[in-house]
Amino acid sequence: MKSLKAKNMPTNWIPPAPGWRPAWYGYEGAIVVAYFGVQAAPDLLAAWVNSAFEGEHSPGAVEQGVFVDTAGVTNHLYVSYWREADYQKWWGHHKSWWQSHERVDKGIGLWREVFTMPQDFFESLLSTATVHGAAALSEGLEGPVAEHGYAGSMRDRIVASEADELRGEVGALGAEVADGGRRLLFRLPKNICMIRSGQDWSECDTPQKADYLQSLHPVLHIGMDYLRDKGDECGCLSMRLISKTDSNWQPIEETFGLGYARDVYVFEQWAKSHPTHLDIFGGFMSMVQRYGEALSLQLWHEVAVCNGEGSECEYINCHPDTGILMNVKV
Ligand code: HEM
Repeated sequence: MKSLKAKNMPTNWIPPAPGWRPAWYGYEGAIVVAYFGVQAAPDLLAAWVNSAFEGEHSPGAVEQGVFVDTAGVTNHLYVSYWREADYQKWWGHHKSWWQSHERVDKGIGLWREVFTMPQDFFESLLSTATVHGAAALSEGLEGPVAEHGYAGSMRDRIVASEADELRGEVGALGAEVADGGRRLLFRLPKNICMIRSGQDWSECDTPQKADYLQSLHPVLHIGMDYLRDKGDECGCLSMRLISKTDSNWQPIEETFGLGYARDVYVFEQWAKSHPTHLDIFGGFMSMVQRYGEALSLQLWHEVAVCNGEGSECEYINCHPDTGILMNVKV
């Protein structure tokens, strides 16, 4: 396991609970996560995915989700993970579908948010030894992780933070505008931070499920609504709480928050000091007290900092409040 400097770790720290992280062993390259979304029934996007995600260089893991955005529009999305070299080859073969004028002419809102995560700019922490997210591409999980459970531990787990403050430099985001303003494309600037924070209650027994859904899930919604609606107060550029679905778009017992912020400090500050995450954290700790080791709730997250290369967003026919697009000045 790579040793970290753990600048923020209190002396003689012993984590309150075990934690795991993906083990990459021989693989030192970047992971790419690409979110492909449609602001309509899923058919158009699904038809493309069904052919594009087949064959050589296709993603190593694919998940699906659905959410209603602030404009009241239902979005269906795919979350797909690649090792970077595969992604590059794959995109080379499949980008023409996105670049075609037909995509614009159909008038259907389509978006893609692609984040390249070099390992030193990425961390993932899982509360149980069950694989989620990018860890599906790893060699398995390793633990226990010492660097967790204290404020700033997320940043400590990002190796690049040892030598660089990773402070956000983003002013207004600009975009390349095409097709009469119906297509906007931009690269993500350095130090923008992405979080995918997952909650999986499928393994909880019936009383635990009811408890989670009554005591914690509503508080999670409040926190996510705050970051979504008032994110400009703290530097959060976009937040969506997404229900995971099966391959037929039926919700399963998992959600995840997908968010972007000016930098890693935005989520760190919110997590350690904002009443909404403190309530989430408190709700979780009381579940830990109630169930102890029998608690089967799976929490996990992955956080990546943009190193300025290979991360981009494209929005076609999307309303202006879509994802990071809402921060773009054209
Ligand atoms: C039911 C939902 C959630 C629960 C129970 C929860 C609980 C926790 C816990 C226990 C930690 C400490 C983790 C550790 O280092 O061991 C933590 C950290 C953190 N959480 Fe949450 N969380 C939830 C949802 C979220 C969401 C949706 C976000 C953002 C989208 C988020 C952002 C963070 C961040 C950024 C940290 C790291 C803080 C740091 O290390 O400085 N959490 N959360």
